[in-house]
Amino acid sequence: MRVGVLTGGGDCPGLNAVIRGLVRKGVQEYGYEFTGYRDGWRGPLEGDTVPLDIPAVRGILPRGGTILGSSRTNPLNEADGIRRIKENLAKHEVDALVAIGGEDTLGVAARLYDEYGVPCVGVPKTIDNDLSATDYTFGFDTAVGIATEAIDRLHTTAESHMRVLVVEVMGRHAGWIALHSGLAGGANVILIPEQRFDVDQVCAWVTSRFKASYAPIVVIAEGAMPKDGEAVLKDGSLDSFGHVRLSGVGEWLAKEIESRTGKEARTTVLGHVQRGGTPSAFDRWLATRFGLHAIDAVRDGDFGKMVALQGTGIVRVPIAEATAKLKTVDPKLYKEVGVFFG
Ligand code: F6P
Repeated sequence: MRVGVLTGGGDCPGLNAVIRGLVRKGVQEYGYEFTGYRDGWRGPLEGDTVPLDIPAVRGILPRGGTILGSSRTNPLNEADGIRRIKENLAKHEVDALVAIGGEDTLGVAARLYDEYGVPCVGVPKTIDNDLSATDYTFGFDTAVGIATEAIDRLHTTAESHMRVLVVEVMGRHAGWIALHSGLAGGANVILIPEQRFDVDQVCAWVTSRFKASYAPIVVIAEGAMPKDGEAVLKDGSLDSFGHVRLSGVGEWLAKEIESRTGKEARTTVLGHVQRGGTPSAFDRWLATRFGLHAIDAVRDGDFGKMVALQGTGIVRVPIAEATAKLKTVDPKLYKEVGVFFG
């Protein structure tokens, strides 16, 4: 049995831990061989491979990024994409493919399996934590840790200058990173895409924080939107899966706060630092377990499935089901943290 492995979409801490888990168990317990595909779906599309064996995965557990490289290549955008992938898998004698990715990468895997019979197993990854069917995706815990540390640091500089600091975090159309890091970092305002925000209300919270002689920290998710108006974007560009590139709302909000309250406001956009560097212990643990369970799914011939964390157990769910709907923040959960606003 030869197993192909690819990592697609935005990278995230823990990808190497999955690869290591797959290869170690696959080789040691099942005697499998592996073929790594470079840069997500570009690898099988163009036949670009990298050797993947036990020496190749030595020492990669604590390393961020992915030894296979990643891209947002969408093979379904190519007229003959599916044919080329099938031909390359056959040429490389790959019997099963493990796709490690988020909504887009796994969406392709679901279609390859459901419509074209390509034997795929999915592993969910994204710092956004927005995949339904799994309680957590690896990468999220690391991103929240990085954002929380940044918020802790911003408190002291905000207070030295008595100015507003707006922190824009990633998360696409889900507010998980903003909610968790904002709560852990003691932010005074947390704004998420799931609930449109009222700039006047934000200014009222900011003003009340100053009245208590503290400087406010406003955490805003990149996908958050004002109540009146549209999403605030830097430019309107789209990625190859047709998603608009986010970021810009933090800068916009700081300007609004400054002009409406007369208080100095600055913005910190955390950006890709949230995705870089070494994974947290939790992410290494979760990613490793996903790798071990994904290779078991291959052994069982249980294709079209994605491994998922439910409670403390790893289960298998149909990939198509897991990618059909985004997992967003429950309004009740958001309301719960409102006691700290202002
Ligand atoms: O999906 C992960 C993510 O980091 C989002 O939070 C963010 O909007 C996007 O990827 C950024 O993508 P890119 O690295 O392509 O700019």
